[in-house]
Amino acid sequence: MIEIFLGIAWLIIFIIIVVVTYKLHHLIKFYKAENNDEKVESLQTSQNWFYALIVIASVGGIGILYLFLKGTIWESHLFEWLNLTVRWMHITFGIAWIGASFYFVFLENALNRTKDVRDELAGNLWAVHGGGFYYLEKYKLAPKKIPKDLHWFKYEAYFTWLSGFCLLAIVYYFNAKSFLIDPEVLDISVAAAITISIVSLIIGWIIYDQMCKRLISNKLVFTIAMTVFLIFFAWFYAQVFSGRAAYIHFGALIGTLMAANVFFIIIPGQKRMVNAAKKGLAPNPEDGKAAFIRSYSNNYFTLPVLFIMISNHFPSTFGNTYQWIVLIAITIGSAGIKHYLNAREKGQLSVWVMPISVLLLLSVAFVTAPEKPKYEACTETVSLEQVSTIINNRCTVCHSANPTDAIWKVAPNGVKYDTADQIYNLRDKIFQRVVVVKNMPFNNNQTGMTQEERDIINCWINQGAPK
Ligand code: HEC
Repeated sequence: MIEIFLGIAWLIIFIIIVVVTYKLHHLIKFYKAENNDEKVESLQTSQNWFYALIVIASVGGIGILYLFLKGTIWESHLFEWLNLTVRWMHITFGIAWIGASFYFVFLENALNRTKDVRDELAGNLWAVHGGGFYYLEKYKLAPKKIPKDLHWFKYEAYFTWLSGFCLLAIVYYFNAKSFLIDPEVLDISVAAAITISIVSLIIGWIIYDQMCKRLISNKLVFTIAMTVFLIFFAWFYAQVFSGRAAYIHFGALIGTLMAANVFFIIIPGQKRMVNAAKKGLAPNPEDGKAAFIRSYSNNYFTLPVLFIMISNHFPSTFGNTYQWIVLIAITIGSAGIKHYLNAREKGQLSVWVMPISVLLLLSVAFVTAPEKPKYEACTETVSLEQVSTIINNRCTVCHSANPTDAIWKVAPNGVKYDTADQIYNLRDKIFQRVVVVKNMPFNNNQTGMTQEERDIINCWINQGAPK
């Protein structure tokens, strides 16, 4: 009953919001034609609020839809589509954001600062792209007159963070028992796990922000403090969450630092600079400097955060016993590669940064390689038939063309073990998940696979997987 009432109320509110937004759009057009800049500006502000309301109402609508679908067979389907849509948005915004970060740091690095540079300029740069020639100039502080059409870069960052947080909620908060919590790591309640997740992001930002403000004048001290900070959080998440969730939280933390840098430091600083310039005052160079440092620090975070976002597909990283050390090594190695690329763009020769970073990453691959697990009792030859029986008993509830599991209605990742051929063809991954990482059967060994069964599969692989 309550959901029907909510549904109708939502529909009415949503229609009102959309109609008002539409009206505003027409009013803005009208005042633009009249050249009434003041009116246009104030109406645009209201319109932005209404756009935000549409987003909030849409999220509310999904929440109400969930009430309707809860407990039905469409519940998991709803989450699948939410996951798909939000992930898609997250990647798109993320590409726009990181692309802009790469591009502007490149401009900064490659700027011509010496030849034919006017006094008020820091430098200039020629580029050719898409069949056209571009000429850019960077001002030392600000131009004498702020142009009317000034482009800002902030929504990419905000929307990447917002969609990322929604994705965290969809995947890890709603399925906390399967994905966020691992009782073998720490047996905590769903509420406690979600609280730790959110609070850690806030505390992480407060510490990082203070570090930036207090230590940045000494590059070496700051770098050491930053490394300690990252090591602490990688270790901390490994103590409270499942391997997968620990990695994603480390990525969410870095992403939060990056977005908060934009929201709390870079954009407010730039606003103050623009306002000062509009009043004919000299902008405070400290604002420019702080924004520059944060934006440069964001640039170093890009490669590590991209690795973490795809790490979910690579259980040999997050599934490792020393997963947080692996994470730190990959973070440092990939930030090192970014450092090399930046140095190269500046025309500096750096001999050792790239080889050491690559060596670090290769050594991670080497260290995480599984030892060939020996099973002494492999006396008899294991047949594919034996293996198939085990897989049928333990895996096909989920991994089948027609899964019978309560949650997984479609074969996870498209992996099906209905026939002996399918099992044979997918033997490498079966070995990886069942014998090496042991994170299948999913959901804390939901189907109760025994160690003996894992050993039999181990033997079969070690015997060359006879058919
Ligand atoms: C309760 C349902 C469930 C059961 C039972 C289950 N799995 Fe999975 N499996 C999943 C889910 C969900 C994923 C995707 C998440 C992930 O990759 O960890 C997955 C992913 C996998 C993957 C990775 C596929 C890829 O290419 O990314 C492999 C391999 C796998 N399972 C093997 C097995 C084996 C072998 C068994 C039986 C011993 C098994 N699973 C039992 C749910 C299940």
